Amino acid sequence: MKDKISLDDRLAAVAGFVEGEFLIDVGTDHANLPIFLCQTKKIKRAVASDINEGPLDRAKKNICAHGLQEKIETVLSDGLTALESYIPTDIAVAGMGGILIKDIISSSEIARRAHLILQPMSHAHILREYLTSHGFSIKDETLAEDAGKVYQIISAVYTGTNDEYTDAELYIGKKNIENREKYPAEFLKHVKKLTETFSKKVNGGDDGARSLYNEFLNFLKT
Ligand SMILES: C[S@@+](CC[C@H](N)C(=O)[O-])C[C@H]1O[C@@H](n2cnc3c(N)ncnc32)[C@H](O)[C@@H]1O
Repeated sequence: MKDKISLDDRLAAVAGFVEGEFLIDVGTDHANLPIFLCQTKKIKRAVASDINEGPLDRAKKNICAHGLQEKIETVLSDGLTALESYIPTDIAVAGMGGILIKDIISSSEIARRAHLILQPMSHAHILREYLTSHGFSIKDETLAEDAGKVYQIISAVYTGTNDEYTDAELYIGKKNIENREKYPAEFLKHVKKLTETFSKKVNGGDDGARSLYNEFLNFLKT
């Protein structure tokens, strides 16, 4: 089976942010991302890593089925802990919660030496807060819709300089605000979801949530 892998829109957006030729894919599961990137010759080599044996076995089988075992190495690793000796151009951490992604980055040295592509499934504001207050600069962001759900994809790099973000920018994504005309439908859906979440907080008596809720409403009007 050496047919071409096709990615869903979420993973295609992650792939679209890859810059260099050597990717580490953390939490690779089926290894679809590195297989696609090798097949399309966007990268020369990859490490597909996972904390669990089951997903790593799936990755190994998939890599062999596509004849890419010379290009994609598999490594059992909790986050980046077993991968510190590698010198990747890019590190992708996709399909995990934002707090777990933050923990993976914060406990690693190589995360400061490679371009990061992060796709949090939740708590994206906590991840952005960590990045912008710990010397990582968010270079770009995009939103991708798949099966009715909007996903956030963040491109970041360590610069040693902290960036000022407002609360609204942490939740929505400053670059998403800047880029909103490139993907207006996804942007609207993303902000609508935040507005709904904050509406529940306000209706539940959380007065501290009111000003952000109003800011989100303003984004829906403009
Ligand atoms: C939902 S899958 C995402 C797969 C793929 N990255 C994607 O975006 O489609 C999450 C994967 O992350 C792995 N994972 C969870 N915690 C991890 C950790 N601390 N380090 C490495 N992998 C982890 C899981 O075993 C699982 O295979």
